[in-house]
Amino acid sequence: MNVTYEWRGAFGNSDLNRLHADAFEHQVLDDDWLAQVARHSLGWVCAFSDSELVGFVNVAWDGGVHAFVLDTMVATNLRHRGIGRRLVEEAVSGARSANCEWLHVDFDGHLRDFYLDSCGFVEADAGLIEL
Ligand SMILES: CC(C)(COP(=O)(O)OP(=O)(O)OC[C@H]1O[C@@H](n2cnc3c(N)ncnc32)[C@H](O)[C@@H]1OP(=O)(O)O)[C@@H](O)C(=O)NCCC(=O)NCCS
Repeated sequence: MNVTYEWRGAFGNSDLNRLHADAFEHQVLDDDWLAQVARHSLGWVCAFSDSELVGFVNVAWDGGVHAFVLDTMVATNLRHRGIGRRLVEEAVSGARSANCEWLHVDFDGHLRDFYLDSCGFVEADAGLIEL
């Protein structure tokens, strides 16, 4: 299977809404991802199999040296083939090219192996408030 990865790749809202619903197991929403990432993100990475969007990660930004990985997602039928790891690799490269110094992520405990072992994040204390 040939998967290609594109930093700030072109995608459609409906494709990303479908992928998000599949990856995070909820009904398909009608979010305006294009407006959201255009306004708030340093970049994002799309993974395409042929022309189908099969993976995505959003890289939010503080406008300075901090970037934040959000919404890493891979289609359920294509997991455990290294697509998630490659998405994050491209996110690291995009953030580094933009002169960011730190890439942050937070995640549920069951994804420790993915982010720490596969993607190279080091463990750090962090805090979170549900608003
Ligand atoms: C997390 C996610 C992006 C990983 O995508 P993926 O393409 O399957 O990941 P990779 O194939 O690169 O995984 C590399 C390794 O990370 C670990 N890993 C990946 N997904 C994992 C999971 N869900 N639970 C535990 N370990 C996982 C495994 O060690 C895996 O190696 P293996 O395939 O030999 O077991 C994907 O499972 C997903 O979309 N999950 C739902 C959305 C989500 O929760 N995103 C995270 C938001 S913080």
